[in-house]
Amino acid sequence: MMTDSSWRDTLRALPVFAGELPGFNTDAAPDSPIPLVEEWLSYAIDSEISQPHAMTLATAGADGVPSARTLILKDVTDEGLWFSTLDNSPKGRELAANPNAALTLYWREHGRQIRVTGSIEKGPREVSEKDFLARKPSARAAAIAGPESEILSSQEKFLERVEEAKAILDFRPDFVPDEWNAYVVKPQTVEFWQASRDRDQIRLRYSREASGWAKNLLWP
Ligand SMILES: Cc1cc2nc3c(=O)[nH]c(=O)nc-3n(C[C@H](O)[C@H](O)[C@H](O)COP(=O)(O)O)c2cc1C
Repeated sequence: MMTDSSWRDTLRALPVFAGELPGFNTDAAPDSPIPLVEEWLSYAIDSEISQPHAMTLATAGADGVPSARTLILKDVTDEGLWFSTLDNSPKGRELAANPNAALTLYWREHGRQIRVTGSIEKGPREVSEKDFLARKPSARAAAIAGPESEILSSQEKFLERVEEAKAILDFRPDFVPDEWNAYVVKPQTVEFWQASRDRDQIRLRYSREASGWAKNLLWP
């Protein structure tokens, strides 16, 4: 086992950014953030980065204790950024108690991060249903196999319940659990962060105001 100090040395020796990084001309940035989210996301997808649509969702319930997990970005619309999950999961319960959240998208190959804060709303039922039915059968079965994030007695138990769930879905292929929900994060702030290899950073934050979006550079 490594001692604390050898971990420190090992970690310090690792490169943070390697290779060419894209530029970020903040003078040419649009007046609102969603088009820039789409531009950076498209560039990540076109660059064939692994999981360009994986993002971190941070929530805090009534007790104020934060928690974060990785989710898949499901859509980007004028309203905001979308994800889907079970509303009876810990994150779903936290969002019911406190409908505010933060999202982070990070594309390490591009040295780019987008940070979003905002309020959360459940999307229309038909969006949730369409989203669930578009999932692979194994993912649909896993979602209804048991109570997400509760203690599981054994892996065998899970596999047994997945087989039962598959049988239900074979019989009712259009089944969508009431708990499955599409959520939209309606941005209050969106920050675009671009690294360069020489450790310069460019930060541009959009903040929602009554009259529209304010755009400000931030100190790195
Ligand atoms: C790459 C990746 C993608 C994931 N996508 C989702 C997702 O779209 N929806 C979801 O509910 N959980 C997703 N998960 C699982 C969550 O990270 C988490 O384990 C689960 O939702 C339980 O979270 P909670 O206990 O905070 O409610 C994903 C995990 C990973 C690593």
